[in-house]
Amino acid sequence: MIRAKIAGIGSYTPEKILTNHDLEKIVDTSDEWILTRTGISERRIAAVDEDTSDMCVRASRGAFEMAGLEPSDIDLILAGTVTPDYRLPSMACMIQKKIGAVNAASMDIVAACAGFIHGLSTARAYITAGIYRNILVFGAEKLTSITNYDDRNTCVLFGDAAGAAIVTPSDDDSGILSTYIKSDGRLDRLLYIPAGGTHTPYQCNNGHFDKHQTCIIMHGNEVFKYAVRHMGDAAARVVKDAGLTSEQIDLFVPHQANIRIIRATAERLRLPWEKVYLNINKYGNTSAASVPLALDEAVREGRIKKGSHVVSVAFGGGLTWGAAAIRW
Ligand code: ACO
Repeated sequence: MIRAKIAGIGSYTPEKILTNHDLEKIVDTSDEWILTRTGISERRIAAVDEDTSDMCVRASRGAFEMAGLEPSDIDLILAGTVTPDYRLPSMACMIQKKIGAVNAASMDIVAACAGFIHGLSTARAYITAGIYRNILVFGAEKLTSITNYDDRNTCVLFGDAAGAAIVTPSDDDSGILSTYIKSDGRLDRLLYIPAGGTHTPYQCNNGHFDKHQTCIIMHGNEVFKYAVRHMGDAAARVVKDAGLTSEQIDLFVPHQANIRIIRATAERLRLPWEKVYLNINKYGNTSAASVPLALDEAVREGRIKKGSHVVSVAFGGGLTWGAAAIRW
């Protein structure tokens, strides 16, 4: 059977930094509250004229270099995002145009923070079926474009970033050993954006909405409970399906939403804290970008090496969640 592997990985974060102290001037919050409740100190903010696809283009450069491939080699682009440049066309088509991936098919994957894991799982399926050889998977968000900076419950959490991975057939022991994705649409109202779809189209009321309609609304503590349960289950499942034990995991690279969720998930896997990769402090929750950004940094810092067993898990609006076990 053909096994898929991550042949190249890259990421991009905008230059502009928004610190907890900056947020203290915007909403009734404190550096101490944000840090102790979430683990976040600062997050990155994309420029006004910087679209999510622009961040993807920059993130893809490192992935292409590592994989030794050109844009024209790509058969399929899968873009995990809830903040595409436009409702139509897809962000994947915008990326295709900007990088010149003229031989690719392109589509977006809407699975919120679990978007990259859904993309990885889909890419793996196409490659193991022998349908495609080179698949470019993104997780990218300009979350600041859908964040209500009057709402202290959400605005302290989110940041902008992009991550990219090139998935190809493996010719050695390395590869994506197992993946798992799942959703529960019954819990849609825990984390959603009311306006912009057919339910409440933008043209209603001459396009005038208050911020609560066009930005993320989240019932944080409810989401928290589901995140702990489902991230733990999903991570344990891919470890078992990969035929691994907890002791064999070299690095756990979870979605960086909340340090307390990460701690609970690591405990569920019985992993020591030094095997957990964290960058939440610098970037906050970057939704679909979170996992590929963390994987890329871990690779470039030497914490993931050839042969390392890596487990990633993510959870987000939908609700959606998923995990992957990888031998690098
Ligand atoms: N500063 C100060 N106080 C605050 C802030 C803030 N920024 N935000 C909330 N509070 C207050 C609340 O008003 C509340 O006050 P009250 O007790 O007087 O009513 C108190 O702090 C506790 O609020 P909770 O919501 O219970 O706080 P909690 O400990 O649950 O932390 C948080 C909130 C950080 C949002 C947490 O619930 C969380 O991380 N949830 C999961 C988020 C997540 O994983 N989302 C999924 C991915 S996002 C996506 O898909 C795009």
